[in-house]
Amino acid sequence: MTLPIETERLLLRRYRIEDVPSIVRYSSHPSIARLIDWASPEGEITEQSVARFIEAQNRINPGDPSWMDLAIALRSDDQVIGAIGIICRAHRQGQTGWALAVQHRGRGLATEAAAAMLDYGFLTLDLHRIYAVTTTWNMPSWKLMERLGMRREAHFRESEMADGEWRDGLIYAILKSEWLERR
Ligand SMILES: CC(C)(COP(=O)(O)OP(=O)(O)OC[C@H]1O[C@@H](n2cnc3c(N)ncnc32)[C@H](O)[C@@H]1OP(=O)(O)O)[C@@H](O)C(=O)NCCC(=O)NCCS
Repeated sequence: MTLPIETERLLLRRYRIEDVPSIVRYSSHPSIARLIDWASPEGEITEQSVARFIEAQNRINPGDPSWMDLAIALRSDDQVIGAIGIICRAHRQGQTGWALAVQHRGRGLATEAAAAMLDYGFLTLDLHRIYAVTTTWNMPSWKLMERLGMRREAHFRESEMADGEWRDGLIYAILKSEWLERR
């Protein structure tokens, strides 16, 4: 499997500098902005901070995908509507994570992208186990993990503080053998 990864409705591809306006638009929503660590020094998502992020991403050697963040683009018009990433760690363990523009949620697009990323992680990167982290509060994200067949492996009581509230952290995971049986 090579990049871009094609699914029925999506392309998972490297970012391009022309994507800056779409990325600023979708990632400024609070549900996504809170996850972003490449905001400007003032904590804002600006065209400059997004351009810096894309330049840094494109410096990563595609032959060494130990940390890869891909754009989720619509196949119909190539517009970027989200992001999906994978980080390869020791012992063939991978961590994945995702975000989708608000107006494109509720149609299974994130599930479609994440399933393609699991295929890529297991079949191309030969990972043994892929996991994802979230909180009990983020139901859309843990429901997505369950749709993919990932197992809730850890539930940490009050392990994160956000907006002045303690939240429970979750880890979900799936093994390569389990994914190959499901797909
Ligand atoms: C997490 C996130 C990507 C999930 O988005 P989502 O739209 O719920 O997920 P999908 O695109 O897979 O859509 C699933 C929904 O569409 C429905 N759906 C419709 N057609 C579908 C299809 N063909 N396949 C799967 N689901 C489909 C599902 O039933 C589900 O709806 P429900 O939640 O009411 O049961 C999104 O909420 C998000 O970007 N959040 C902000 C960023 C974030 O928190 N990321 C995770 C950090 S841990």
